[in-house]
Amino acid sequence: MTNLYKSVPVRSSEITPKQVYLSRRDFMKAATVAASAALLAACAPSVTEMPQNAAPAPTSTATDELGNPVNTYEDITNYNNYYEFTTDKQGVAGLAKDFKTIPWTIEVGRLVNKPKTFGIDDLLKTFTQEERIYRLRCVEAWSMVIPWEGFTLANLLNMVEPTSEAKYVRFETVYRPDEMPGQKSPFYSWPYQEGLRLDEAMNDLTFLATGLYGEPNVPQNGTPIRLVVPWKYGFKSIKSIVKIELVAELPATLWNAIAPNEYGFYSNVNPDVDHPRWSQASERRIGELSRVPTLPFNGYGEQVASLYDGMDLNVNY
Ligand code: MTE
Repeated sequence: MTNLYKSVPVRSSEITPKQVYLSRRDFMKAATVAASAALLAACAPSVTEMPQNAAPAPTSTATDELGNPVNTYEDITNYNNYYEFTTDKQGVAGLAKDFKTIPWTIEVGRLVNKPKTFGIDDLLKTFTQEERIYRLRCVEAWSMVIPWEGFTLANLLNMVEPTSEAKYVRFETVYRPDEMPGQKSPFYSWPYQEGLRLDEAMNDLTFLATGLYGEPNVPQNGTPIRLVVPWKYGFKSIKSIVKIELVAELPATLWNAIAPNEYGFYSNVNPDVDHPRWSQASERRIGELSRVPTLPFNGYGEQVASLYDGMDLNVNY
């Protein structure tokens, strides 16, 4: 049987024994110094150096189901899009480090039989956490391979029982301008909101991530709970969710409202439809120097292409 995504029952931190990743850390430091000069010339992000006394970050030799190695913990946690903090990808981690995630609740409601507000601990206890190694393809044409931990959105939705009128799912990020300086910017209609069609939301790939690399999630990656929709451009994978609503009408989304000609509601990864300002045919995997071809549906077509039967995805982008 084809392996449609990489799901492993062990934590990534257990994949690499501690003494192996400790020695690999020295190797990575040397490689980082050598690579940084070349990367800067290519206008790519520099790889972040770890502070001397920091605990070693977990590393892993795991790959996704296509054989792509997972990105380093440093890359995943130091090159982020999180406009609530800043538009500077390498500045998010610093600005988000004191973001308060305890207590945290998610309200799940509207067109459901059993609306409920969940504490994050309830979710961690109720649903078995599994690891999924997914490719993340940003609309800006960079990508990473990330070992997430969490559970499927379908698990949560089944618990609240969507009614027959529910056709879409709407997600909302926390709104705390005092802690999230980017939310003071008048250019965006905060809070960040996103949406999926109900059948997309129920697909087995659609994941709520609570952890990363076998560790609890960190603020810059969307603590304590964020969506991961691996066949869509990364902006659909909304971070730090506080509200999930089942609705009958197609929900407004932050990026679509700002630039509907650039960011469609579906936003499935599609190498044949260019962004109006750049090509989507290839992508730069963070940590690598050369570009790789972008795959339709980010390589998950076998599992999701049928959701769009009869639709022209060049029009319904
Ligand atoms: N969610 C919120 N609330 N705010 C954001 O700015 N950025 C999106 C998405 N989710 C974003 C967000 C974009 S553009 C991408 S590519 C991914 O988060 C990046 O996720 P990562 O930083 O964990 O790699």
